[in-house]
Amino acid sequence: MSIDNKVTIAHLSDLHITGKNDLRQIARLDRMLAEFVRRGYDHIVMTGDLIDTAVPADWAIIREALERHGLFDWNRTTLIPGNHDLIVLEEEMRFYHALNPAEKSRQRRVRDRLKQFSEIFRPLISDEGNADASLPFIKVLRFGEFSIAFVAVSTVLPWSGSDNPLGARGSVSRETLRALMDPRVSTALDGSFVMGLCHHAYRVYGTDALVDQAFDWTMEFKNKDEFLKVMKTLRASLVLHGHFHRFQVYRVDDVTFINGGSFRFSPERYGEVVINGDGTWDHRFVNLDR
Ligand SMILES: [Fe+2]
Ligand SMILES: [Fe+2]
Repeated sequence: MSIDNKVTIAHLSDLHITGKNDLRQIARLDRMLAEFVRRGYDHIVMTGDLIDTAVPADWAIIREALERHGLFDWNRTTLIPGNHDLIVLEEEMRFYHALNPAEKSRQRRVRDRLKQFSEIFRPLISDEGNADASLPFIKVLRFGEFSIAFVAVSTVLPWSGSDNPLGARGSVSRETLRALMDPRVSTALDGSFVMGLCHHAYRVYGTDALVDQAFDWTMEFKNKDEFLKVMKTLRASLVLHGHFHRFQVYRVDDVTFINGGSFRFSPERYGEVVINGDGTWDHRFVNLDR
């Protein structure tokens, strides 16, 4: 925290790195992270779709980039997975058999990938290196008298031929909702400025046109209102998300949602959140000079 009593956060989403040969995108990420360090941000947040095709080795590209800039640290970076991190569409199609939809194995594949994700990013997910640590998790960061907290959830819903044909619909699991409603969570967050982190968008802007409605359905955050209820219970002021590749800020009840857009498609743009010691906050989207 700077002497003027504020905490600054830089937010990126939807990087969609396609592998170690994606040199242009990796160079853009290096440039962005170097800027974050130069501009002195206290913390970096990435809200999912870090990589494009759920190859666990590709997460290492993100980890190594953070390491190069001294940002691979519990106190410096928080990130969560998106659908592109945990679901391989081709694989799901290949396994799919209409007479044997194998719901359980689809859930298992997402769960296994989430476990691998948590292993690769363990130091950002658990400050004690807890081997079981995964999502959801909470992170409370203290800056002198003042503290901020993240409530990080996975909203990735397993692929389903009928219910989630593009793997892009989202949902928060029962277990996650239940875990976050545990009174110990509220107690841990008490007194902090709380921010929710999820990948899927509470609001997907469409029109009344049928084609838009069909598109919205494929992207929908199915139980977004249950998630909102938890965010309100935990007194979250902000929710940072991605998924729907637009830079947006909108309010639902008392919670402000910030969509970090897509670093893949707008690699010069990021979101900046400034939290003041008195609990007020500001947000803006920033463009780097080309
Ligand atoms: Fe995305
Ligand atoms: Fe996504």
